[in-house]
Amino acid sequence: MAAQKKLPFRPIQEIQKSIENRLKGVKYKVAIMSGKGGVGKSFVTANLAFALAFKGKKVAVLDADFYGPSIPKMMGTEGQRVFATDQGLMPVVGPLGVKIVSVDFMLPDDTTPVIWRGPMLSNAMLELLENVNWGELDYLLIDLPPGTGDAPLTVAQMIPNITGAIIVTIPSEVSQKVVMKSINFAKRLNIPILGIVENMSGFTCPCDGKTYPIFGSGGGKKIAQEAGVDFLGSIPLDPRISECNDKGLPFFIEYPESPAAKSFLDIAEKVIKKIEGDQE
Ligand SMILES: Nc1ncnc2c1ncn2[C@@H]1O[C@H](COP(=O)(O)OP(=O)(O)OP(=O)(O)O)[C@@H](O)[C@H]1O
Ligand SMILES: [Mg+2]
Repeated sequence: MAAQKKLPFRPIQEIQKSIENRLKGVKYKVAIMSGKGGVGKSFVTANLAFALAFKGKKVAVLDADFYGPSIPKMMGTEGQRVFATDQGLMPVVGPLGVKIVSVDFMLPDDTTPVIWRGPMLSNAMLELLENVNWGELDYLLIDLPPGTGDAPLTVAQMIPNITGAIIVTIPSEVSQKVVMKSINFAKRLNIPILGIVENMSGFTCPCDGKTYPIFGSGGGKKIAQEAGVDFLGSIPLDPRISECNDKGLPFFIEYPESPAAKSFLDIAEKVIKKIEGDQE
């Protein structure tokens, strides 16, 4: 009978130390989260990364959504590959020099699903974090999977000293309740909340120029007030956004003059001020 191969046991402190070592050139680590799926976390992560890079920051994105990675497509880097060197795994370099790491860069094609149970997911994430060579960075944005369950918890706990979390919501009442859960989730993990971004807030119709509050209005501000956290800004609904995301084009680069791109620059400014203080 073949002997069962046992993985060598490694104490968690040792793994954490090596992850910390890999991330030592990273100044600020920002997690993007929401208790709710489909509110635009990945879209916000991708475009905030571009906005920060546009402002001269060295930026990287970690797509921590192993089951539904969408960052490569939204950042115009679909089909690319990370490559291994003696110095570790080198991220893909996207528009404006933003470095990107996603499990998608390791799968044979974009329809291959990741079928892993929790422990495998944790191991894969640990392995990734222990091996990526990020180099020197100002900002590492982490696109967390949706919800407040096992997956976001594991990721959030594995990355040491997260600088803060940005919580994404849409204006509807239903999403407000779930968002409060992710605010409490961040608080329990002792991750400071940098603020709330309201996505899909209002649609300006090209035919009459009027703004229609498709999912209601003011929800993001209201929840920020209730939770005692900052409101960072809102991003309008824009059909060009979903079109770009579907086509694999980076929205911020394609439409730099759009109201949404301008909002991202405002939000980036606020994030920089909040994290780096007034020395900017
Ligand atoms: N402001 C917007 N205007 C138009 N479409 C948008 C906007 N924001 C996001 N979308 C579209 O909505 C969909 C969901 O966005 P996204 O994938 O970023 O959400 P998510 O919160 O990351 O989802 P998941 O929970 O599955 O990770 C995408 O198809 C995206 O193109
Ligand atoms: Mg996502």
